[in-house]
Amino acid sequence: MNPERIQNEGQINPARFSIKDSVRYMFGEQRLLFVLIGITIVALISNVVVIPSSSQSEPISASFQVAVSTSVPRRIAYELPTRNFDLVNAAGARIPLGLKSKSLRVLVTGGSGFVGSHLVDRLMARGDNVIVLDNFFTGRKDNVLHHLRNPRFELIRHDVVEPILLEVDQIYHLACPASPVHYKYNPVKTIISFITLFSSRLRYHKTNVVGTLNMLGLAKRINARFLLTSTSEVYGDPLEHPQVETYWGNVNPIGVRSCYDEGKRVAETLTMDYHRGLNTEVRIARIFNTYGPRMCLDDGRVVSNFVAQALRKQPLTVYGDGMQTRSFQYVSDLVDGLMRLMEGEHVGPFNLGNPGEFTMLELAKVVQDTIDPNAKIEFRPNTEDDPHKRKPDISRAKELLGWQPSVTLREGLPLMVSDFRQRIFGDLKEGGSSMSTF
Ligand SMILES: NC(=O)c1ccc[n+]([C@@H]2O[C@H](COP(=O)([O-])OP(=O)(O)OC[C@H]3O[C@@H](n4cnc5c(N)ncnc54)[C@H](O)[C@@H]3O)[C@@H](O)[C@H]2O)c1
Repeated sequence: MNPERIQNEGQINPARFSIKDSVRYMFGEQRLLFVLIGITIVALISNVVVIPSSSQSEPISASFQVAVSTSVPRRIAYELPTRNFDLVNAAGARIPLGLKSKSLRVLVTGGSGFVGSHLVDRLMARGDNVIVLDNFFTGRKDNVLHHLRNPRFELIRHDVVEPILLEVDQIYHLACPASPVHYKYNPVKTIISFITLFSSRLRYHKTNVVGTLNMLGLAKRINARFLLTSTSEVYGDPLEHPQVETYWGNVNPIGVRSCYDEGKRVAETLTMDYHRGLNTEVRIARIFNTYGPRMCLDDGRVVSNFVAQALRKQPLTVYGDGMQTRSFQYVSDLVDGLMRLMEGEHVGPFNLGNPGEFTMLELAKVVQDTIDPNAKIEFRPNTEDDPHKRKPDISRAKELLGWQPSVTLREGLPLMVSDFRQRIFGDLKEGGSSMSTF
């Protein structure tokens, strides 16, 4: 029976209406096409997108003496084709099929280093489009290898001492050789990442001065928000304990560590001048000792040195009497703090560190308990300008960023040990090192 016969007869006899007739009826006169168009229209109308504001503004305490940003509206843009995981945005709102989700474009200088690569992991997981700039002085491509095939990720070999033009919404400026072994080896670059390379120490100056100037210039030009990763070293050998952000520090301006300490102090000054004078949106974090997977092996930082030594069955080298103190923050806590700072409304500076305070001998004991109870301790003369005490006061970060660390040393250390174990026994070329309590 065909549809024409049905119309003519006015009535359908179900017994005589076969499956073959039904199929023929459905495909006749493009009925299926009309049904599909109808379904598509209904789906588009019902999928309404609500994208929440990304700003997490918090009340500003009247007693807070630190600069507060002038609220330059941030651009939220950069659309790339979405994948399945983009169909539900951060707030759980539904995004219509075929439309593109909005995500931030974020530049991370020094993004293939220890802290930078963990930050990149978090930004990528959030759905951002991330560009890493790195000259691989201390960073490793391996740290970001797992993102290389992702279209939202770009890795550019570039020295921040040279200007560059990129279009981004946020800049996390981490590029700087951060360990004593590296900055004592190449101090001029550290300060000059800011001048001509006269010696290795100039590298630090160049990076901290010229590199920071270049990145601030970029932020100003493209109206991006800029975050500087400064350091607890700006407090030098502190005369106040614990260290509060309002403390101005006690730094030897001509010592072996000064290329790093003074370099970061200059970087903070430049950052605040761009903020006050040019209205650039800035954030400043003062990072205290941080540890975790992907730290450079043998870079002279005390946690990495103790762990590497214990794994290699070498004595743990303690400088001085081992009674100097430090606080140790697990890297995931730091990354959380950096992102809250970037997304929040306060310029800072903010101390980001774990207030738990350990002497070097106590740290050695935790390493012995975690890796090798029979590991020996070897005492050596202390290094020049080694601070006696270091402990952050994080009241400000608690109050204004709602942040505090959650991973204890005894929880975090084993996570780092498995990474070190794999890298040390997989790469026997790693050599010996000198240690510091930096
Ligand atoms: N890890 C800590 O305990 C700690 C403490 C205080 C401050 N910080 C700060 O945090 C940031 C990251 O430190 P980290 O521990 O990850 O150090 P890291 O050495 O692992 O990372 C620094 C990265 O910057 C890159 N870099 C250095 N100079 C550069 C230049 N001129 N141009 C481009 N790239 C350059 C390196 O190759 C490396 O990838 C640094 O600014 C450091 O001063 C870290």
